[in-house]
Amino acid sequence: MAARPVVTRGVASKGVASKGFASKGLFIAGTDTGVGKTLIACAMLHGFAARGLRVAGMKPVAAGAVRRRGVWHHDDVMQLCAAANVDAALASVNPYCFAPAIAPHIAAQEAGTTIRMAVIQKSYLRLERNTDLVVVEGVGGLLVPLGGRLNAVDIPVRLDLPVVLVVGLRLGCLNHALLTVAALQARGLHLAGWIANRIDPAMARATENLQALRARIKAPLLGTIPYAQNPQSRRVARMLDIERLQQQLQRRPDTCD
Ligand SMILES: Nc1ncnc2c1ncn2[C@@H]1O[C@H](COP(=O)(O)OP(=O)(O)OP(=O)(O)O)[C@@H](O)[C@H]1O
Ligand SMILES: [Mg+2]
Repeated sequence: MAARPVVTRGVASKGVASKGFASKGLFIAGTDTGVGKTLIACAMLHGFAARGLRVAGMKPVAAGAVRRRGVWHHDDVMQLCAAANVDAALASVNPYCFAPAIAPHIAAQEAGTTIRMAVIQKSYLRLERNTDLVVVEGVGGLLVPLGGRLNAVDIPVRLDLPVVLVVGLRLGCLNHALLTVAALQARGLHLAGWIANRIDPAMARATENLQALRARIKAPLLGTIPYAQNPQSRRVARMLDIERLQQQLQRRPDTCD
């Protein structure tokens, strides 16, 4: 595992009362790696912060860190910290960080480390204590192995978090999205909503694909994000239906719908 110094990032907020969420966290799942989970997680942090909430991001497992001036950096972690509005220890935001950009269970094995849910839960609870909402970004797709019998979906199960699914709109996304929804249902997770992210500007029949997903995913569509040369999370925040998401988080039914 990459050495992980404890440092703080972000701007301290004045602090507001808890907003009465049924859950103080939210898990961002994706249909795959590289579909916009970090972009959306950061946009959500901005969106909730703009509504007066104290927010922090979390990336429980990150692979692909680089060492700069003796400190390990992972781009997702840095982005999540920059979008947060409370100070948080880097060790809590990102308890597991590996240098090679490879599957996490292989990276952990090569580093002689075992990814433990208890460590992830402890880190999450530390973040939760000082915030109204923690936005937890998944790693890769939902069934990415973490080692042993664990995989990425065990994170929202263990932390008891509702899930928002980011669908990267590209050829193959219908299968990926519906498989992911089925995997969430199989584990009894609550799908609070989904986001359609236009990561492929050349995708044929994108509108028809979106319609196909709308007809099959019962959870609310919380935003359709257009392709952008250099997408900015603050700008994307304005395209998300944060109010609807907030309602979904307060509602928190037992079943995945
Ligand atoms: N709507 C969009 N338009 C253009 N580029 C996008 C869009 N959404 C995401 N991207 C770009 O795609 C790349 C992957 O996005 P992002 O890092 O958010 O994905 P991810 O799902 O978090 O990936 P990982 O699995 O590595 O964590 C980034 O360069 C991001 O800027
Ligand atoms: Mg990411």
